[in-house]
Amino acid sequence: MEGLRKLCLVGFIVAMMLSHRPAWAETYNLMPQPAKLEPGSGRLVIDGRFRVALEGFREPRLEAAAARLVHRLSLQTGIPFPNGLENTPGAPLVLHCDHAGEEIQSVREEESYQLDVTAQDASLTATTPVGVLRGMETFLQLVRLDAQGFSVPAVHIADHPRFPWRGLMIDVCRHWMPMGVLQRNIDAMAAVKLNVLHLHISDDQGFRIESKKFPKLQELGSDGHYYTQAQITELVAYARDRGIRVVPEMDMPGHSTSWFVGYPELASGRGPFQIERKWGIFNPTLNPMREETYTFLDGLIGEIAGLFPDEYFHVGGDEVNGVQWDANSQISAFKQAQSIKDNAGLQTYFNRRLLAIVQRHGKKMIGWDEIFHPGLPKDIVVQSWRGPESLVQTAQLGYMSILSHGYYLDLALAPANYYQVDPLAGATNLTPDQASHILGGEACMWSELVTPENIDSRIWPSAAAIAERFWSPQEVKDVDSMYRRLEVVSRELDWVGATHISNYTRMLARLAGMQSPETLKTLADVVEPIKDYDREDARDYTSLTPYNRLVDAARPESESARIFAVRVDHLPTDQDGIRKQLIIWRDSREILLPILQQSALLQENIPLAEDLSAVAKTGLEPLDYLDSGHPAPPAWAEEQRVLLDLAAKPHAELLLMIVAPVRKLVEAAQRGSW
Ligand code: ACM
Repeated sequence: MEGLRKLCLVGFIVAMMLSHRPAWAETYNLMPQPAKLEPGSGRLVIDGRFRVALEGFREPRLEAAAARLVHRLSLQTGIPFPNGLENTPGAPLVLHCDHAGEEIQSVREEESYQLDVTAQDASLTATTPVGVLRGMETFLQLVRLDAQGFSVPAVHIADHPRFPWRGLMIDVCRHWMPMGVLQRNIDAMAAVKLNVLHLHISDDQGFRIESKKFPKLQELGSDGHYYTQAQITELVAYARDRGIRVVPEMDMPGHSTSWFVGYPELASGRGPFQIERKWGIFNPTLNPMREETYTFLDGLIGEIAGLFPDEYFHVGGDEVNGVQWDANSQISAFKQAQSIKDNAGLQTYFNRRLLAIVQRHGKKMIGWDEIFHPGLPKDIVVQSWRGPESLVQTAQLGYMSILSHGYYLDLALAPANYYQVDPLAGATNLTPDQASHILGGEACMWSELVTPENIDSRIWPSAAAIAERFWSPQEVKDVDSMYRRLEVVSRELDWVGATHISNYTRMLARLAGMQSPETLKTLADVVEPIKDYDREDARDYTSLTPYNRLVDAARPESESARIFAVRVDHLPTDQDGIRKQLIIWRDSREILLPILQQSALLQENIPLAEDLSAVAKTGLEPLDYLDSGHPAPPAWAEEQRVLLDLAAKPHAELLLMIVAPVRKLVEAAQRGSW
């Protein structure tokens, strides 16, 4: 073990030298990494005497933030701070704010801050309350426990964001997400300095906000699952308290079946309509030729936009399939009369009318990239989801845009995949002014395959890696460093309230029934859901399907398998550790099978348990060959490849993630060298 630690240390130092990463990167476990950090000497002790004082500009938001900081620190350390908010001189942490921020936080809000920690005290200074909020999160991430107790290391940090629009979109339609889900995710967003919650609030599967003008929208279009207007006001205030804007999206003219259950006359085809229970692109579409459509939208948007103070209103605009438009002879005649040549042109006509309504209610328009056509006002924002190209094209034309392509959390990819996507990757030919039109991006959590129970496990910790991409300097891109910090930050996010870790344990307990979830974890920890949209092809999923299988509990990335793969890449270092791990997996079959057999939910996973054991057994043999100094016979290697190819195939929509590193072991054995 001692030898291993030394080797790790050497590896760590070499990795630091190779990656040109600032040496402090892992010492501080900050995510996102700040723009500038200079280590100081010593440490500020955090004990029961901790207090926080406010200086300069004061407002209720800052008072609440100070109280939250004390509360969070107490949760994090388990120490009570009886005088935590006593605002008297000599407090260990002083928050200083210069002046008020924007009354309605916008994309232009100042968010920079400075944090100075010495062995005696700490000061957090910002021009605006939002800057103080950002710095507070940095302070909390710096708190650590060591042999001397809790402390914050002495540092000087001067920090500001790279992009002003750093969002998370949550789809509350495909699966309803109660207020608590949004609130805990807002807390987690704030912890990693995200600043826009984009609420996808209407779609084919639900109209999820109360309209007093058109109550049949939520009464008939939501199964009773919608936010009241009072809840929206509460949510917006909750987010503002944490420096987060809330942008509502009412998706139109497609993705609107739920509207037509109560108001069929708005559709381009004949009703009656029902709330959609399946996933996909559906035909019901608003009728763009009837004046009544625009009268309705004027009333509705006026009402809904008024609940959200943000300057932007999202109109959706994606995936209009045109089937109802083509089938309606009046619409065809209308197109001809207006010299509109195709359905894209008809959507442009609709968007022009919609834009006028959005503007009349004092809002700027944002929409998915389908809404874009030259001639739109320059204050609109295009959300690029079909590819990064539209981001660059719109920037060249002087339009603002944000990137979501590459940040789809519902694809259940590994954090590293998302981390490597950069909003400015395709912007090399843009002038600095054009590039400045790319405002940032949004991670998107579409909720077809998630429920309130497991949505956090698809958002976190990946969204923390994305948050770093949006906040930190472009050069901060070392994946190994990201993972080392993410491990710590992920646990902190669970403290903040996200349930990606805690609900994993609960879901495994359900699956295991009367048996030990700890044992099931041996299997659950090394599998991942199949990627992309393959799950939707695997079964006929609907909103009424129980999402309670192992594939629903499994995390998008198996940390155990990722770490195992890294250890295999570093062989012969830690050969003993690898052997021990493989033995545990090989022998897991005997204890896993009885657990899987006795649970109706787990029986489908028996082949995975068999494969885990067989693959681990295959992985042990190369270690013996390599020890013996003789290459493995080609026939043996071929036999193992056949076994591994079979084990690489999904079972019950799950992939066994140790197959790839074991394949590397087999290849090394055949070569006869590491
Ligand atoms: C989208 O993913 N249809 C915006």
